[in-house]
Amino acid sequence: MSTRPKPLVAGNWKMNGLKAALSEVSAIRDAAAAGEAGRAELAICPPATLIAAVADICKGSSVATGAQDCHARESGAHTGDLSATMLKDAGAAYVIVGHSERRTDHHETSEMVRAKAEAAIAAGLTAILCVGESQRQREAGETLTVVGEQIEKSWPKGASPDSLVIAYEPIWAIGTGLTPTPADVAEVHAFLRREVERLLGGQGTGVRLLYGGSVKPSNARELMAVPHVDGALVGGASLTAKDFMGIAAAYKA
Ligand code: PGA
Repeated sequence: MSTRPKPLVAGNWKMNGLKAALSEVSAIRDAAAAGEAGRAELAICPPATLIAAVADICKGSSVATGAQDCHARESGAHTGDLSATMLKDAGAAYVIVGHSERRTDHHETSEMVRAKAEAAIAAGLTAILCVGESQRQREAGETLTVVGEQIEKSWPKGASPDSLVIAYEPIWAIGTGLTPTPADVAEVHAFLRREVERLLGGQGTGVRLLYGGSVKPSNARELMAVPHVDGALVGGASLTAKDFMGIAAAYKA
């Protein structure tokens, strides 16, 4: 019991949010201070343009700031990219790596994702490493093979419960309103726990395993109750304080 990690509910804003959206961040911070997230830790991963502002608003609160990607190098001639060190400097504590949208849009491989996760850890950030199967792969019964291969190939050196979070995000569930059944999530998360324990030994019990893909206030309680689900990575429903806190409320006693 005592080894159960503190849950994390992280919002991935993707390419959404102008300065006007910062009022949602203040509302999330205030709701968290009022105990609305129960025992869960919260993180908001806005677009890079808002990281410093979000970090400023959340300073001294229980809400952390995260980024959505980082470059594998610390600095250099990489126009348009941001290093993990820069994100940390801007106030981020977390960075998402290997999101399926980046694997697709930017052709990121698991090897590239590993290099990014290692850069994140070296910079003192916690990497939120995303894995997940496509609809075709699920229908072909390949889910555990695909997810296992992603974990194996993208597993960063220096991983620990403090430096690494895994997010299981079935691609077909992202932004579609579809979710796997609790039994399907349970199967993947039990597998992930075994894999993480194999790679990290006893420390593996402390690594947080998030579920992501169409998490909403209406399904959060059921999904968060699944064994080995230690929180959520939330896209669309993280854009308003009302919905995001409605999800975090799954961790209120
Ligand atoms: P969604 O996105 O909650 O909008 O499905 C989740 C994610 O992509 O992290």
